[in-house]
Amino acid sequence: MQSAQSFTITAHGAQMPAIGFGTMELPHRPAELVAAAIASGYRHIDTARKYGTEERVAEGIRASGIARNELFVTTKVTEENAREADFLRSVETSLKALNLDHVDLLLVHWPQPKVPFSETLGALAKAKRNGLTRHIGVSNFTLAMLDEAVNVCPEPLVTNQIEYHAYLPQDRMIAALKRHGMILTAYCPVARGKLLDDRVVGEIAKARGKTHAQICLRWLIQQPMVAAVPRALEEQHIAENLDVFNFSLTNEEMWRLFDLRKRNIRIADPPERAPKWDIEIVT
Ligand SMILES: NC(=O)c1ccc[n+]([C@@H]2O[C@H](COP(=O)([O-])OP(=O)(O)OC[C@H]3O[C@@H](n4cnc5c(N)ncnc54)[C@H](OP(=O)(O)O)[C@@H]3O)[C@@H](O)[C@H]2O)c1
Repeated sequence: MQSAQSFTITAHGAQMPAIGFGTMELPHRPAELVAAAIASGYRHIDTARKYGTEERVAEGIRASGIARNELFVTTKVTEENAREADFLRSVETSLKALNLDHVDLLLVHWPQPKVPFSETLGALAKAKRNGLTRHIGVSNFTLAMLDEAVNVCPEPLVTNQIEYHAYLPQDRMIAALKRHGMILTAYCPVARGKLLDDRVVGEIAKARGKTHAQICLRWLIQQPMVAAVPRALEEQHIAENLDVFNFSLTNEEMWRLFDLRKRNIRIADPPERAPKWDIEIVT
């Protein structure tokens, strides 16, 4: 078994630690929680301009004392900044807030249909070529959008960060990402807590002596090219979410969890910016 730090997923030259710390909505002690996550072994931090947590992430990184080159930091540009000039300004603002000269991964946070993808993805590639980020990717892109983004972007995309957990099927997106050699970064990996009350998850957790969250996260990262960015406010939860590299689920356990996707529960669906999601038919 590999240690948390060494368990990385490789795509187009990027080496992404399979579990990252999500920083959306950290209402209390955000910088302390980021520092606690790093102290417990996280090397991948997921933030975004929209979350308003970049400054706190910077404080947490500073407090942790970790060397910059040991961290994999992701931030995102909102859909309001899809035009090239706005996009590049947003990246500069993020870097200033993060107190970094570059991030490891920069994502288009949500697709912006009013701006040609060639412009937004061109700006994303330019941010990479200008050294503002080591790698680039997208978030919340549908199948058709992903194909178009890959086609128009002059630099390789390493991930599509999307909602993925045992209650939401993503079979077609997984196949598409595989075709493009990209990582699926799963957000809402424990379905914002909904999966923690699930009977099947509970049975497997009990049998394995693991917590419900650990079973959900292990199920994700045991799939090829899947990473996850759970968020937790309890320090014990933060630590246990990373402690998923010293056991494996059996094929039967994996399939019992795959079967839960028939529930088809989507959590992050903001009407003002969500695209028309692809339909997944699960038999
Ligand atoms: N790209 C996008 O558009 C997008 C959208 C949404 C989210 N994200 C990213 O994904 C991250 C995670 O998503 P999320 O926060 O929406 O959902 P999540 O990680 O599935 O769920 C967070 C909730 O689960 C609970 N939890 C986590 N680990 C737990 C554990 N071990 N035991 C018990 N409860 C646990 C947390 O409780 P406690 O707080 O009590 O610990 C919290 O209430 C975000 O922070 C963000 O970085 C990205």
